[in-house]
Amino acid sequence: MRSENIRGDETMPKQTRTSLTAAFLVTAAVMPTTAFAQEADAAVELPDGEPKAFIEGACVACHRLDYIPNARGYSEEDWRALISTMIALPGELGDSVVSYLAENFPKKPGTDPVIVPGPVDVTISEWIAPTLGSRPHDPAPSADGSIWWAGQFANRIGRVDPATGETQEFPLEIADSGPHGLIEDGEGNVWFTGNYQRYVGKLIPETGDVVDYPMPEGVSRPHTPIVDDEGTVWFTAMSGHVGRIDPATEEMKISAAPTDGAFPYGIKINSEGEPWYVDFWGNRLGSVDPQSGMITEYELPDADSRPRRIALTPDDAVWYTDFPRGYLARFDPETGETKEWLSPSGETSQPYGIATIGNIVWYVETYPRPNALVRFDTETETFQSWPIPSGGGVVRHMMATDDGKLVLACSAVNRVALVEIGN
Ligand code: HEC
Repeated sequence: MRSENIRGDETMPKQTRTSLTAAFLVTAAVMPTTAFAQEADAAVELPDGEPKAFIEGACVACHRLDYIPNARGYSEEDWRALISTMIALPGELGDSVVSYLAENFPKKPGTDPVIVPGPVDVTISEWIAPTLGSRPHDPAPSADGSIWWAGQFANRIGRVDPATGETQEFPLEIADSGPHGLIEDGEGNVWFTGNYQRYVGKLIPETGDVVDYPMPEGVSRPHTPIVDDEGTVWFTAMSGHVGRIDPATEEMKISAAPTDGAFPYGIKINSEGEPWYVDFWGNRLGSVDPQSGMITEYELPDADSRPRRIALTPDDAVWYTDFPRGYLARFDPETGETKEWLSPSGETSQPYGIATIGNIVWYVETYPRPNALVRFDTETETFQSWPIPSGGGVVRHMMATDDGKLVLACSAVNRVALVEIGN
């Protein structure tokens, strides 16, 4: 069983870090390799009913049982659609599981998104991953128009060609890698983070071979990778680090965040080649000096802010989703000022995946079912939003393509999505 909900993240054991001056040095060995919290299953007592024993046995293969009462609740039809993305339950067994779930866990009040109408048209297309319950965590666009995803629970990287709907999966050799984030480089290689097994991998799609780059001791749970214009691969690590791999020398260098208990999460490179990241364990952002590796941190005004994902507008302003507070926010690196806007579905909306296309910010509200895709015009400061057809099931990351589309990973509904934007 895995645990990467917020609680799981927060209960992760801390590691010792070096100080600011130790940028690009590797921290001392303090943690065993599988250094992430495995929470015990919360004591969940499901209501009596015919399929109860089956559910208690079969539904814990990939996650805890408390996912069921904690979910937003669904109609029979929506439970059927959701479960079919995780496990194939034929005939009567399927009917009995679905009607049991619908009866005992109906849709909870307050779980619909607030949809804001507006002038822009979008077309959202979705494709299901061949392996059920694979948890597409992050998506990445490919130069050839296809969409990559990291199937975290299935230990594979996937790809779909939106033109034909053809899918392909690349199983990873290292067992239980927990592939989390991924990015395609200029040569068509796909760099991914092996979140559970402390390595960054380079998948060569023509052969399916993977080159592994293990984390040095003291660095764990590599999170989100990104490639800069020089081809350098940068990545955040949940142990409080930002790393980089020079593809020419294959050398990996690590920078430690100055603050103890930091959790660098989403990362983007600005127009000066400087990586910026958000810190999900604090009200902090960070930037990395690409030459020295020195990390500078910036405190956000609200102590409860937990920025989860980041996007940059062409002026290098930093936009982030403040997940627990329900805000979209802009940090101005020039002035150090922050401005924020309450997301249309309110404080509990859990804004998460975010991307920019020019001066338009796009992000997803992940608490409501369905999740809502939100558009924010940074010039007029106005919102518009749309429900995601599959429900979205927590869109943890999204990216813009070079031709002005968006790719999304819809984790709990085992899909990836392409958003084409009209006028
Ligand atoms: C093959 C793996 C797998 C199996 C088996 C599985 N699930 Fe899931 N389930 C997932 C994944 C992946 C997610 C998304 C988890 C996440 O993002 O944290 C998920 C999420 C959920 C959610 C939350 C959905 C939401 O919209 O919030 C519920 C409820 C759920 N599963 C119920 C079940 C039930 C009931 C069964 C058994 C009939 C089951 N699962 C079996 C993989 C699986």
